[in-house]
Amino acid sequence: MSSDEMKRQAARAALRHLPEAGVLGLGTGSTTRFFIEAVGELVRGGRAYQGVPTSIDSRRLAESCGIPLLADDGPWQIEVCVDGADEVSPSLDLIKGGGGAHTREKVVSNAAKRNIIIVDATKLVARLGQTRKVPLEVLSFGYQTTLAALRAFGAPELRLVNGAPLRSDAGNFIVDLATGELAEPAQLDQALHALPGIVETGLFLGRADVVVVAGADGIRELVRGR
Ligand code: 5RP
Repeated sequence: MSSDEMKRQAARAALRHLPEAGVLGLGTGSTTRFFIEAVGELVRGGRAYQGVPTSIDSRRLAESCGIPLLADDGPWQIEVCVDGADEVSPSLDLIKGGGGAHTREKVVSNAAKRNIIIVDATKLVARLGQTRKVPLEVLSFGYQTTLAALRAFGAPELRLVNGAPLRSDAGNFIVDLATGELAEPAQLDQALHALPGIVETGLFLGRADVVVVAGADGIRELVRGR
């Protein structure tokens, strides 16, 4: 099965977690893209959903799918947020931010009653940091000083696109911090949040309620606390 087909299956399997109507958080990334398209189909079929997109890209896609959208300002009463992830640990902690959208994603996930994560099986790891760096949204002001401070935690690298720093939707820089496997992700998250200049980390700890995993052998669901 192709990687896209697994992503599509995970996205479609998440539909069973949706309420009959209400506000949905719409994540960002190639897996969530399939989910947004599927929600568009449901809306065209008569379901009364409204979306809160987690990025400009997801807003554009959701608009093109005909999903009514709420303003970025909030406040929102989000029933369910569905988003992708870059790594998922056995305790359902996540690394996100492969698309540099993790700050908005965290704001929306924090406002949602339930968080459903959709991934293919390649995203499952024994420990966070095993395959991915930790994305950080960083103020451009003084970023060299922030990079120097980050060296206490690993090897930070400014994310570039065509030789220029990638900017988040909020206009900030994205830094990828190579840490190796994380024994204590919560400690790192706390230390990173204490650094001025760090807007948000890509560590999503204790936030996922259900992770829908698509693999060659079909769909399975990992449920927090089980
Ligand atoms: C964007 C994200 C994405 O959800 C994450 O990178 C997964 O993306 P994909 O589904 O394309 O693998 O966190 O900031």
